[in-house]
Amino acid sequence: MITTEQTVQTFLDFFRDRGHELIPGGSLIPPPGDPVLFTTSGMHPLTPYLRGRPHPLGQRLTGRQRCLRTTDLEEVGDDTHLTVFEMLGSWSLGDYAGPQSLRWGFELLRDGFGIDPGRMHVTVFGGDDQVEPDHHSWQTWNELGLPVEPTTGDNWWSNGPTGPCGPDSEIFVWTGDEIPQGTPTSDDRWVEVWNHVMMRYLRHPDGSLEPLRRPGIDTGLGLERLVRILRNTRSVFEIDVFRPWMSTLPRLWGPLGEPSLRLLSDHLRSSVVVLGDNVTPSPSGRGHILRRLIRRTLTTLWRDDPTRTLSDLPIDLVEHTLDHFRQSVRPEEVRTVLFDEEHKFGVLLQRGRKVLSRSRFLEPLTEDDYQYLHDTHGLPRDLVVYLNTDN
Ligand code: SER
Repeated sequence: MITTEQTVQTFLDFFRDRGHELIPGGSLIPPPGDPVLFTTSGMHPLTPYLRGRPHPLGQRLTGRQRCLRTTDLEEVGDDTHLTVFEMLGSWSLGDYAGPQSLRWGFELLRDGFGIDPGRMHVTVFGGDDQVEPDHHSWQTWNELGLPVEPTTGDNWWSNGPTGPCGPDSEIFVWTGDEIPQGTPTSDDRWVEVWNHVMMRYLRHPDGSLEPLRRPGIDTGLGLERLVRILRNTRSVFEIDVFRPWMSTLPRLWGPLGEPSLRLLSDHLRSSVVVLGDNVTPSPSGRGHILRRLIRRTLTTLWRDDPTRTLSDLPIDLVEHTLDHFRQSVRPEEVRTVLFDEEHKFGVLLQRGRKVLSRSRFLEPLTEDDYQYLHDTHGLPRDLVVYLNTDN
């Protein structure tokens, strides 16, 4: 059965055989000037080059990049969403055009990874009041014999409100037990694995689109999702890179139930990776996201048993994840920060319980109460809500 590392190698070899140079996979911290807190897509480190600057390695590039998405936080625990995940990518910086990229994408999935084209469905940009439908992609998929669904919003990619953007075409693979049915927008057993963006425009602050002088192609393939499909597992949590987490946590803390086990595996592993990129918990910015991940971990962990503690986390579990992401932070340091944060949160919860037991807070809370609890006692709203539902 193919492993995650073999999947990466197959992908990178395919593109290197087609003249793409390997770019070094970067950290979760995007380059200066990027509008996002964390790298959310493989193309972030390439933004200046997609805008037109020549890349020192040439016009065809490939690579792997770790990413973090908090927009999907509430969905973590389903079969496909993760907070930290890896993207494999290929880029044409003013070299070949969209149809070539789609043809290679199809060839790699079918011949390199052995996915039956009968289990593939694609979506293309169907046009809006500014840009016409993506006829070239549509025609290419027709020639390759794949079913096509046009959409508008779902098939437009941008890195933020301004900057490089364009229509995209997404490849979905069927994960149901029955024969494929429906379309990607009507049946979520179609799982998106690979997005090909035709980076053709620059969006200005007034919303207008300027055609790029040198259009490019930016593709991103979700590694864990693909491995899940190739290994035919129920969810991304059963693939090899998650096995140590999914098997160790119940041994440490007793039966957790599948949703909690998935959430804990995702959030703890993500926290380790964020710490591995030298972010530390803090009240705002990147550190705040990390703090939220750790606190969500702790509230999940303590719901059934408040004696559970992160100091139980085996060092080799932390090490395994840091190694996978090629991070050089010492595992002991990571565990120490996690444990310090647990201690701080424990103290805050204790204080919160004491304050909330006062008679004025026994009534339903008003906006003024929330403001007061935040400003005077340092108790954020989500924590107050948690403590109230907990009691
Ligand atoms: N930027 C696109 C995405 O994140 C393709 O890499 O989906």
